[in-house]
Amino acid sequence: MRGTSLALAAVTAIPATALSPWRRAASDITVDLTKTYQTMDGFGCSFAFQRANLITNMSDKTKQRQLLDLLFNTTTGAGLSIVRNGIGSSPDSSSDHMNTFAPKNPGGPKAAPQDTWDGKDSGQLFVSQEAYKTYGVRTIYGDAWSAPGYMKSNGNENNGGTLCGVSGTNCQSGDWRQAYADYLVRYVKYYADAGVPVTHIGFLNEPEFAASYASMSSNGAQAADMVKVLSSTLNAANLSSQVGIACCESEGWGNQVNMLNAIKSAGAESLLKTVTSHTYTGGSSGPMNTKLPVWLSEQCDLNGQWTTSWYGSGGAGEGLTWANNIYSAVVNTQVSGYLYWEGVQWPDPNTNEKMIKVAKSAPYDYEVSKRLWAFANWSRFVRPGAVRVGSSGGSGVKSAAFKNVDGSIAVVVISTGGSASAVNIKVAGVTPTVASAWVTDATHNCAAANVTVADGAVAGNVAARSITTFFITSQAGAAI
Ligand SMILES: *[C@@H]1O[C@H](CO)[C@@H](O)[C@H](O)[C@H]1NC(C)=O
Ligand SMILES: *[C@@H]1O[C@H](CO)[C@@H](O)[C@H](O)[C@H]1NC(C)=O
Ligand SMILES: *[C@@H]1O[C@H](CO)[C@@H](O)[C@H](O)[C@H]1NC(C)=O
Ligand SMILES: *[C@@H]1O[C@H](CO)[C@@H](O)[C@H](O)[C@H]1NC(C)=O
Ligand SMILES: *[C@@H]1O[C@H](CO)[C@@H](O)[C@H](O)[C@H]1NC(C)=O
Repeated sequence: MRGTSLALAAVTAIPATALSPWRRAASDITVDLTKTYQTMDGFGCSFAFQRANLITNMSDKTKQRQLLDLLFNTTTGAGLSIVRNGIGSSPDSSSDHMNTFAPKNPGGPKAAPQDTWDGKDSGQLFVSQEAYKTYGVRTIYGDAWSAPGYMKSNGNENNGGTLCGVSGTNCQSGDWRQAYADYLVRYVKYYADAGVPVTHIGFLNEPEFAASYASMSSNGAQAADMVKVLSSTLNAANLSSQVGIACCESEGWGNQVNMLNAIKSAGAESLLKTVTSHTYTGGSSGPMNTKLPVWLSEQCDLNGQWTTSWYGSGGAGEGLTWANNIYSAVVNTQVSGYLYWEGVQWPDPNTNEKMIKVAKSAPYDYEVSKRLWAFANWSRFVRPGAVRVGSSGGSGVKSAAFKNVDGSIAVVVISTGGSASAVNIKVAGVTPTVASAWVTDATHNCAAANVTVADGAVAGNVAARSITTFFITSQAGAAI
């Protein structure tokens, strides 16, 4: 049990006579450990497009540590458990380009590649090493927005273009599928040599959008072609127990449903480890039709001006909005992973596409949005491997419950209106003996809150417009 590490915030069972007044009027939330849903991979964000350099290049090591703690520390920060990196395709590092480690066309798909691995990977290697070694993050995802330009039908990393060799292409330069798969495997090896086992590899990003920056077009049949080659290449390299394929990072949920259907038709669904989708051009109307884990692998508020507000008008960048966005994805769409777009970004543009805004130069001032603290209420307590279980009831609140691998039970409760609610959490067949509660609202950032453990239940208050996580770290009675 992990109760000891939380001793300060936890309370043990007390006599019923000592109950706080609000407990008596509480509504019951019932957790049912026998009703199980998806297994969680975790919560995370990306460091692509040189955003990682904001942390990696920082000469002020105290602030650098503060930023890493804010993102990954499970007692003082968000406790994120997934890192999504961009695999570069750019020939240079100007602007926010992610440079590729194979900028030079070796002369054809069968020619020996000429790598120039720089040991930095646009700052992402250092952040990944810290996440892995210092903070124990075990899900490291490398995703390519594009293959290097010479592997593509348009000869350029930008403006779409397809990978030469997939169905429907007829490039003079030949079939680059195997060369691209080998390239992605070499990326995995460079990270492994630097002490970071990559667990997920992606070869597309928003394949229906021919962006003016790194982008590669693909329909589902073309994706399936590449999945088959990449899968057998990972097998041949004996890497398939470490790393699996994530696909396809579509712009919207409906796009990804189409991609997955085509991959199924091509008999390649079982070659995937994870299905990934964004929701920029369309959200989900329910779980995706697959037994594979599904991640909402990129979301953010691209339009609003930077805000650190928890709740004002329900705006797209506010913290409570993101607490609810995560709830909807985890409970209604049954995702196993949820990733914000960027963890950090410089002030220009002054939007909410990052969770932390960091100045590019000394004194490296930074501002933390409440979106990060909304993630904290989930990610710190709903750890990788947790199984979502049944939860119902409660008045003026909605809830989601999880059983962690270590046996602890996290119940995430969000108030649905403007008033506080007293709740009484009961876990069928289980008698909680140690629990804590953690609140984020306008004035608290995942702060310890009062909780009472008595009469076989955990009682506490869910403040108005808050997310409050009840964390049962020790219990008597039945386990799953
Ligand atoms: C970080 O340093 C690299 C060189 O290692 C440089 O290319 C890049 O522009 C720097 N980025 C920032 C944001 O300081
Ligand atoms: C997280 O922060 C706490 C408090 O500052 C610190 O004691 C702990 O070492 C940090 N955890 C890691 C893994 O660095
Ligand atoms: C993969 O493992 C097999 C069996 O252990 C071995 O024969 C083969 O050489 C390995 N291949 C690579 C590329 O490491
Ligand atoms: C959880 O969210 C609340 C806001 O409702 C915040 O005050 C609290 O600090 C968050 N808890 C954690 C552990 O981040
Ligand atoms: C916990 O309860 C005590 C006594 O009722 C109160 O003074 C304190 O402010 C409460 N703490 C929190 C974090 O709500």
